[in-house]
Amino acid sequence: MIPHAALQTAADRFGTPLYVYDASELDAALGRVRSAFGGAQVYYAMKANPNLTLLRRMHAAGVGFECVSGGEIARAEEVGASGDRVLVNGPAKLPGEYAAGARLGATFVVDREEEVGLLPPGSRALVRVNPALAVSTHDHLATGAAGSKFGVTPAQAPGVLRALRDAGHTALGLHVHIGSAIRDAADFSAAFARLAELHPAVSDLDVLDVGGGWGVGADLPGIAREARAAASVFGAELWVEPGRYLVAQAGTLLTRVVGQKRTGRPFLLTDAGMTELLRPMLYGAEHPVTALWEGEPAGTWDVAGPACESGDLLARDVLLPAPVPGGLLAIGEAGAYGASMSSTYLTRPRPAEALWEGGEWRPIRRRETPQDVWAMEQGLE
Ligand SMILES: Cc1ncc(COP(=O)(O)O)c(C=O)c1O
Repeated sequence: MIPHAALQTAADRFGTPLYVYDASELDAALGRVRSAFGGAQVYYAMKANPNLTLLRRMHAAGVGFECVSGGEIARAEEVGASGDRVLVNGPAKLPGEYAAGARLGATFVVDREEEVGLLPPGSRALVRVNPALAVSTHDHLATGAAGSKFGVTPAQAPGVLRALRDAGHTALGLHVHIGSAIRDAADFSAAFARLAELHPAVSDLDVLDVGGGWGVGADLPGIAREARAAASVFGAELWVEPGRYLVAQAGTLLTRVVGQKRTGRPFLLTDAGMTELLRPMLYGAEHPVTALWEGEPAGTWDVAGPACESGDLLARDVLLPAPVPGGLLAIGEAGAYGASMSSTYLTRPRPAEALWEGGEWRPIRRRETPQDVWAMEQGLE
């Protein structure tokens, strides 16, 4: 936990809105994953938070990367990852992404039958299976439902593995990822069981990649037990691809109170909003909010950002001490899909980021300026 006094210091030094990360919590999350999943290969889904400093720490700890765009492959390369430390995933990979992945010696996750003919010669590949299951998460976060665009059907999977081998690729095994922020272990058991049912039509796999998707507070040992059981059916090595779990709890968004108003509801207005943290608006995500000023709880507030959008809310019905102008709010569990989904909508420069490590602050991303935001629109003629 970062001490409140240190959070105040960071806000004064780097300004707000500001993303801060606790290095000890990053390490603890990786430790929990490793202790639950034993010797499984860990591929961090960098979409959750691609900050180069966080990637470098993970690379140094032996973690690989799951990448879903040319930009993410370039980030993996930038921090020195290659070969079996890079997975290239995604439903619509572009020619340049196959080429970049091949140059690094990455493994590809095949998402549809026709990709067999698109892979670079002699690729290593997994086949993503869509188990067609309803899972307990927001619809936009469910990737293994019958109507989702991801993966091949269980019935198609044996044929795609065969086609890969016939085309001279190395078909390493199967992949499944059913969605994000899932807390119910039964959802994972059902998905892994769907894969295990493919045996004996599919046998002798080298790898079973069970994706990520574990919500904060999910029963990791329970999920790991089920994953190992499915992998053992095939005699396969286990791979995992957590994003959110590795970084969510380490991250906090710091924002200052700009003012207050009461319309139909009591609003506390802050200098961060949907442009810094989109999850509440996008998925109805709930983040814990803590006031860093003193006082007894004195009323509930909807915490709203500065954007001209009614949906620009960070949290509803938050119990807080009487608001203080310029007071700091800490929005917790914001390390995943926070900074990575921030935008420059309204020409709001994206926030700075800082890492709390060894009792000191280290800037890991400078605040953008309006000039950064419009730089690509100038000097073109
Ligand atoms: C294929 C794949 N793997 C892993 C992840 C990481 O999910 P999470 O951050 O919920 O662990 C995602 C997230 O969308 C994904 O699409």
